[in-house]
Amino acid sequence: MIQVNENYLKIQASYLFTEIAHRVKAFQESNPGAKIIRLGIGDVTEPLAPAVIKAMSAAVREQSKSATFRGYGPEQGYAFLREKISECDFAARGVKVSPAEIFVSDGAKCDTGNFQELFGPRVRIAVPDPVYPVYVDTNVMAGRTGVQKNGRYGGLVYLDSTAENGFVPDPPSKPVDLAYLCFPNNPTGAVATKKQLEKWVDWARREKALILFDAAYEAFIRTPGIPHSIYEIPGARSCAVEFRSFSKTAGFTGTRCGYTVVPEGLKAWTSKGEPVELRQLWMRRQTTKFNGCSYVTQRGAEAVYSKEGAAQTKKTIDFYLENARLVREALSSMGYTVTGGTDSPYLWVDVKGDSWKFFDLLLREAQVVTTPGAGFGRAGEGYIRISAFNSRANVKEAIARLSKVLAR
Ligand code: MLT
Repeated sequence: MIQVNENYLKIQASYLFTEIAHRVKAFQESNPGAKIIRLGIGDVTEPLAPAVIKAMSAAVREQSKSATFRGYGPEQGYAFLREKISECDFAARGVKVSPAEIFVSDGAKCDTGNFQELFGPRVRIAVPDPVYPVYVDTNVMAGRTGVQKNGRYGGLVYLDSTAENGFVPDPPSKPVDLAYLCFPNNPTGAVATKKQLEKWVDWARREKALILFDAAYEAFIRTPGIPHSIYEIPGARSCAVEFRSFSKTAGFTGTRCGYTVVPEGLKAWTSKGEPVELRQLWMRRQTTKFNGCSYVTQRGAEAVYSKEGAAQTKKTIDFYLENARLVREALSSMGYTVTGGTDSPYLWVDVKGDSWKFFDLLLREAQVVTTPGAGFGRAGEGYIRISAFNSRANVKEAIARLSKVLAR
């Protein structure tokens, strides 16, 4: 008799965004004429930058000739891309990350979900609440938690991110080995200051703990002085892994490319207390389970760092940030307290009530899709997340509809 991994039975039957997609589909089917505006999942709507398209087209042509055709690439990613990442994302900000420490992948979701495989079954884990569900669900699947009760899994340490702490929690006071952080934050849109991240790095070094730092939204940071990388904090190389993504930076949600930084010298320990290099373990894991991101995609990602590519992608991010500003101002003028939307594509709106009910209301009355805060954790209840990824026309139309519905 084939037995299932019963840890899967502990998690909700469907992933948050799958559940939302089901509800939206059901609504559309019973209201075929409804013109639904999607400000729910953070999926980009603007096309890839012309420089990216040009580079990918050239790479496709290379693949059409035997002289330039490429088969399997290096599992860690092509050197041409890793060198550009090292130079433009890190050296340009005064941070040392060598190409050998960069692992190119098909996106940050997979990497943030897979990285936990490197750790023992009993590591003690802290997650902020609300939180991107991938960090929690993948640890539940791996058997590191108990069952869910009142919206929380036994065994996990939850760090409330609330209006009181500006949605940036302090390091845990309980013993923890592994902590997930995401800044600019998904879902709250909050950013962490250098001082706040220093506190985290000090904690991790003191506790011999590890921070998994998700920086997928760093390209949206506009406030001067806000760190774009955890490695801007002295000492972080010895206690943090960083995840980056081209999805939101350059519109690659469907194209798929991201990367993970595992610094040389970053260690975890065996049960006997012997140090093990995490970079070697991640290399072993990736070479066994992953065959690299496609050559064509990596050439596209490389073009993001060209002069034209950088200017074009920045322009698109500025466009989404302007969407965010419009939504933020509209909701604020209606009396809602809104966080995020200045250094992030997400707005976190205090709706002072049941977030799934509010989600349903906006879907039904305004045909606008949002994300209920409760889907990100117990402390997300009372909020909805609005994403700024859409056309200007749709954002303006959504604001008009929301104003009408919420004025009632
Ligand atoms: C979100 O809406 O939270 C993101 O699109 C999720 C993701 O990047 O996987």
